[in-house]
Amino acid sequence: MTNINASAPETAPANVPYITLNDGNRIPQIGLGVLRIDDDGVVPVVESALAAGYRHIDGAAGYNNEAGVGRALAATGYNAGEQRKSLWLTTKLKDSEQGYDSARRAFDRQLGLLQVDYVDMYMLHWPTPFNWRSGETWKAFDEFRAEGRVKTLGVCNFLPEHLERLHKETGEWPAINQIELHPTWQQRDVVAYCKEHGIAVEAYSPMARGADLNAGDGTIARIAAAHGVTEAQVILRWHIENGTIIIPKSVHADRQKQNLDLFGFALTPDEHAAIDALDGPTRAGHDPLTFTYA
Ligand SMILES: NC(=O)c1ccc[n+]([C@@H]2O[C@H](COP(=O)([O-])OP(=O)(O)OC[C@H]3O[C@@H](n4cnc5c(N)ncnc54)[C@H](OP(=O)(O)O)[C@@H]3O)[C@@H](O)[C@H]2O)c1
Repeated sequence: MTNINASAPETAPANVPYITLNDGNRIPQIGLGVLRIDDDGVVPVVESALAAGYRHIDGAAGYNNEAGVGRALAATGYNAGEQRKSLWLTTKLKDSEQGYDSARRAFDRQLGLLQVDYVDMYMLHWPTPFNWRSGETWKAFDEFRAEGRVKTLGVCNFLPEHLERLHKETGEWPAINQIELHPTWQQRDVVAYCKEHGIAVEAYSPMARGADLNAGDGTIARIAAAHGVTEAQVILRWHIENGTIIIPKSVHADRQKQNLDLFGFALTPDEHAAIDALDGPTRAGHDPLTFTYA
């Protein structure tokens, strides 16, 4: 198979491209998500991902496994020195810890659990518009960045009205908005707003937690068969071609490798359009207007 990315000037391992953000930092387009893996279980999962070539880990305080991620980074040497510099590490603040003082305490704790001096990205996990404290919390985030303990500031689950409100209060657009995004839930209005304001889009649940592997009455399976790849690779390749950052989760080493191996084939325009046409009205996760992940 031809490697269509061979001429890219600089990539992370496994030919994963970097996406340049509005703050100038560069994030590997594929990361490993670690939601719903317990604190002991996450250690071998992160280790196998690093061995496979992942250089981007997407975690959160709310996943209750930061200590395990930290143990994996320490055991593999990715928590310091040159190896640390090669890794993009994201974590998120719990909704219950939003607010200036509580965010400062939470962040210190999180760096300790992760056993690192800095994280590459710190994110607001949910906008909680019914208890809005994002502007106040951002003041602490801004300080972490000035202190050199965070490189990039991001948000998750923000709708345009929340991005607008944050911008009004802080004068800043976040570098990334991490949102639920997969073939059957494409959130085109949110994506368009982000693009217009220079905010990179990061897809969580990029395969709808696995449900989209069977989407479109066999559409994904037919495209997969045509290329000799898996359904997961077809969906993830579609995201890559859209320029979206993705953070698929798998606890299995073989699937982790598969989810990274997306640069030896390309969708035809018709195949890409067939996946575009799978957009639908049903999310797999929660509604940002009402949900809080305490
Ligand atoms: N910011 C937020 O509010 C938010 C919300 C949800 C998720 N996230 C982030 O996004 C990450 C990914 O989302 P997600 O875990 O919800 O869903 P996902 O990545 O769309 O799907 C994960 C599911 O697909 C399976 N899978 C993975 N690779 C596969 C493959 N190659 N073939 C077949 N099945 C495969 C996994 O099973 P196995 O593990 O058994 O392989 C798991 O059941 C999370 O881990 C988290 O980091 C963020």
